[in-house]
Amino acid sequence: MTIEVRLADMSKSIRKKKCCRKTSSKRKRSPPSPAAISFPLQRLYISCLDVFKGVGTVPSPTDVQKLCHILDRMMPEDVGLSRNLQFFKPRSNVGVTPKVACTTIYQCEEFSLSIFFLPANAVIPLHNHPGMTVFVKLLLGKVHIKAYDLVSTENSDDSNSILPSQPKLASLKANGVFTAPCDTSVLYPTSGGNIHAFKAITPCAILDVMGPPYSKKDGRDCSYYRDIPYTALPYERAVMSGEESERYWWLEEIEVPKESEMEGIEYMGPQIIEMSSS
Ligand SMILES: [Fe+2]
Repeated sequence: MTIEVRLADMSKSIRKKKCCRKTSSKRKRSPPSPAAISFPLQRLYISCLDVFKGVGTVPSPTDVQKLCHILDRMMPEDVGLSRNLQFFKPRSNVGVTPKVACTTIYQCEEFSLSIFFLPANAVIPLHNHPGMTVFVKLLLGKVHIKAYDLVSTENSDDSNSILPSQPKLASLKANGVFTAPCDTSVLYPTSGGNIHAFKAITPCAILDVMGPPYSKKDGRDCSYYRDIPYTALPYERAVMSGEESERYWWLEEIEVPKESEMEGIEYMGPQIIEMSSS
């Protein structure tokens, strides 16, 4: 079955799971034929082996640049996609709740390569990436991205709330529409829009490179938030007014929202030839 068929019929995908926050192990595969290899994808994988050094590390600026250079040039075809796939054609989905699907190209302890498929109007709610560096490459479609960084305030560590349940002050880093092809965005563990949300304007495919991946058992679970205008809450932690206050929002942690559920589909694109990291 081709990936086109899988994408055309995501609702009947063979592997259903709560995706994005996965801990799936590597699957055993038979060696791919030369025709099934994508050199840009293989190059990305080899660079990831070199760049992601494990928990508690952040890639150096040179390494970030190296990965961005590869990702900026990646095309949908490099992971087996095409804008001609039925999934990416405009269609009416009135009465249908658009559901996000995801597929894992590769995952190991140090990093993961995934693709998220968003039908038009689908959302990935505001969520964080604890201790992770994330590269986001929009391969196809048009998406609205909103991204925040938590604000570190004096007399606090990297979290600015006194109690976990109290809303945290955050600075708006991005709030706009991105259309493929566009350059890669990088989110760092504490900056660069570490907490973000997506809303698809047209059907989208987003390639995510995360290092290290989410892992609940290692304390890197995903938390979800709702954003509240700065002036709507009475906290006096930081006093801002006028234009400045428009840049600041409160992020309140919420229960895992229903829209965060994703459907896992099997990756059917070009395969990676696994190598041992040096
Ligand atoms: Fe994310």
